[in-house]
Amino acid sequence: MGEQGENWILMVTAQTPTNIAVIKYWGKRDESLILPINSSISVTLDPSHLCTTTTVSVSPSFKQDCMWLNGKEISLSGGRFQRCLREIRSRACDVEDEKKGFKIAKKDWEKLHVHIASYNNFPTAAGLASSAAGFACLVFSLAKLMNLKEDHGQLSAIARQGSGSACRSLFGGFVKWDMGKESDGSDSIAIPLVDEKHWDELVIVIAVVSAHQKETSSTSGMRDTVETSPLIQHRAKEVVPKRIVQMEEAISNRDFSTFAHLSCSDSNQFHAVCLDTSPPIFYMNDTSHRIISLVEKWNRSEGTPQVAYTFDAGPNAAMIARNRKVATLLLQKLLYCFPPQADADLDSYVIGDKSLLKEAG
Ligand code: DP6
Repeated sequence: MGEQGENWILMVTAQTPTNIAVIKYWGKRDESLILPINSSISVTLDPSHLCTTTTVSVSPSFKQDCMWLNGKEISLSGGRFQRCLREIRSRACDVEDEKKGFKIAKKDWEKLHVHIASYNNFPTAAGLASSAAGFACLVFSLAKLMNLKEDHGQLSAIARQGSGSACRSLFGGFVKWDMGKESDGSDSIAIPLVDEKHWDELVIVIAVVSAHQKETSSTSGMRDTVETSPLIQHRAKEVVPKRIVQMEEAISNRDFSTFAHLSCSDSNQFHAVCLDTSPPIFYMNDTSHRIISLVEKWNRSEGTPQVAYTFDAGPNAAMIARNRKVATLLLQKLLYCFPPQADADLDSYVIGDKSLLKEAG
């Protein structure tokens, strides 16, 4: 550093999609390292749809670390941000551009401050996994800026310490977060199962039932569940380990019936342990329940599942259609049951692929 003076700024921009869990993570065995009580599996969305874009920059003229989310300054003092920043800084390497005569030495990173600007193209904290895309993008862009040599799996262990589900957004396609065994969390990392091309007929439709901020955050909700639900240990020890094996097999074989059965059952069991929490947590609402009935009736009338549904910590429905034709039919059914009007039950049917809406007419 030094030779270039104070008059420079180095910047990196990255984009990370969110992910939707089909076998849910709910409950921690270590709160500060964010180690889960069970493994989970998710599908990462197409980057052009629900994603976070983050620009990180460094300059000797920056007096402190700062962050803006959707244009508003937010505090970086939280333990999770600090932990991610510390983990990344401790692994930073030399950054050198010989042509420009530019160098930041490894030891300089301890003194330099970063500015972080992040944008979500979807509602923040409405059960659409905004923290997943957010922390994954933060860790990835800072790792690029500071020239880390770690691979995506190792970076996922850092993103996990920002928000558990974030570790899965470091990869595309279907991803497993292995709960790991080590007490330092070094083996609690994301592992890519298959890439996005493996099962590319699947179409994901998100029905935004409510874009409002959820009442109970995932973090406090899952803490309460672990402390009070008698069912959660049975789920984590007996049910999920079997489902993980079955789900990996269903994904590998593109077996939609098994995939849909497991996804819907796991979503319903996750919401059952929320109800089994004291006081009970209600993430879904009447509209969410009506969507479940619609899909269940349709799947039963076809004899074989057409659509899988899953709900995270909010009322919004993520539906996975077996192909594009089914996704168009699904949208037609949703438009019929929830006609768009001023007091519509749904805020929006589909985020991203608007061409589907045109096909649904
Ligand atoms: C219901 O990853 O948001 O979406 O680790 O406390 O930040 P923290 O929780 P978070 O929880 C996500 C829970 C879930 C299920 C899932 O994504 O697997």
